[in-house]
Amino acid sequence: MIIVLDFGSQYNLLIARRIRELGVYSEVHPYNLPASEIAARGATAVIFSGGPGSVTHIALQPDPAVMDLGLPLLGICYGMQVLAHLRKGRVEGSKIREYGKQILRIDRESPLFSGCTEPFQAWMSHGDSVTKRPDGFRVIASTAGLPVAAMEDRETRQFGVQFHPEVTHTPQGSRVLENFVRRIAGTKGDWSLGDFVKASVKRLGEQVGSGSAICGVSGGVDSTVAAVLSHQALGDRLYPVFVDHGLLRKNEAEEVFNFLTGMGLKVKKIEAAGRFFEKLRGITDPESKRRCIGETFIRVFEEEARRIPGLTHLIQGTLYPDVIESQSVKGPSATIKSHHNVGGLPEKMDLKLGEPLRELFKDEVRKVGHLLKIDPLILGRHPFPGPGLAVRILDEVTPEAVTALQEADAIFIEELRRGGVYDDVWQALAVLLPIRTVGVMGDERTYGQVVALRAVTSLDGMTADWVDLPRDVLERTATRIVNSIPSITRVVYDLTSKPPATIEWE
Ligand code: XMP
Repeated sequence: MIIVLDFGSQYNLLIARRIRELGVYSEVHPYNLPASEIAARGATAVIFSGGPGSVTHIALQPDPAVMDLGLPLLGICYGMQVLAHLRKGRVEGSKIREYGKQILRIDRESPLFSGCTEPFQAWMSHGDSVTKRPDGFRVIASTAGLPVAAMEDRETRQFGVQFHPEVTHTPQGSRVLENFVRRIAGTKGDWSLGDFVKASVKRLGEQVGSGSAICGVSGGVDSTVAAVLSHQALGDRLYPVFVDHGLLRKNEAEEVFNFLTGMGLKVKKIEAAGRFFEKLRGITDPESKRRCIGETFIRVFEEEARRIPGLTHLIQGTLYPDVIESQSVKGPSATIKSHHNVGGLPEKMDLKLGEPLRELFKDEVRKVGHLLKIDPLILGRHPFPGPGLAVRILDEVTPEAVTALQEADAIFIEELRRGGVYDDVWQALAVLLPIRTVGVMGDERTYGQVVALRAVTSLDGMTADWVDLPRDVLERTATRIVNSIPSITRVVYDLTSKPPATIEWE
């Protein structure tokens, strides 16, 4: 097992993920995890992650005893500076800052670069740099402006790289990590996601003990996988609650309910559409809508939670990208959109939080879902926002608007499936616009609403590209929408990427 000490880089879980892809289990822990803990957990090596800190100013320091464990150590970016600092090298704020792709000269004799070729392209993002290598270290990579881009002390098996091997912009980065994990640390690679499932079920069982847990299910991949996993750990002490807010896709509420009960979960379905529409009356501002839905959701959920005797835990299907997004909310970057979840509830009701998927990425969650024998149709579903169709109706949310949009959306999804392109698209959606345009049908002049279609590819929703869908798919979708939904007279296609646009329109 490899322990990654987290110095605050947004890539730190990516390091763990890359190592897991090598078949080696890896966990991320706070930077100051005591050395005794690292030893107790049976780590075979330690990685210092990158981070926004600066060794030259305020330094986040690991437990110095980590250096005496005799374990192989790899410092990445800020982590390399920490290593250099602890080994009495010199780190300085340099005049030249390096951001983005750089070409490195590497020493291919170093075990860290074994099997790598030149040119070696790597992703850098740093202001400080190591200006004097510590005693015992050799320089094993450099760039035109950076004399120490990587260093090694083979005797103590301590290595440092100023670049980020974990990102895809460093094409040979996985090789570097593999060299460290296998060749240098000698760690066997026989871990699999199946082991993750077993360990997660066990851990959740221990966490909840003799208590019981509530979880919200929405039909989305994350909450479904979290619920099925938790059900394996807790059986009937898991109370899945499905709040139907009336803003789901056509027929989705029944499908979700039938599927989950079919998997043996005792799902409680709460019909709350009327209550949500009531609360949403007159609201058009996107953030107010989100807040209104979030608050109403929490209220409904809380009422249900209070009915469950002896409730101790709330389980959420939080994934790693959600963890990053909420971290950035606390940090300097602005909240782009407030994401709705049942936050606030745990403290208010004195519940402990269980997040069995928080170390995983979406595609890993899908793989876990397959292992749990969840229907591939559910696992392959496009992401769907918590506030549902409300953020795709760019106006007041009324039952009529929802019905029209549900129809348009269902036609679009059906045509994507018929055209065999549904799985090539990360997310597809229809949006009901608050404008009316003139049309003609038969001999009649019409004056109706516009539907915009959007389809994007993405890895994690953070960035996205619009998809050049086959013409016949677009054409059939548009024709069917206009022919079958009386209030809609025009269909347009969205050609913007994220950034500058977001995926949803609100
Ligand atoms: P944006 O529109 O921010 O969306 O580019 C990125 C991804 O997040 C989904 N999304 C949400 N999911 N609650 C959610 O659970 C929300 O309030 C929310 N807003 C956006 C969106 O569908 C896309 O997949």
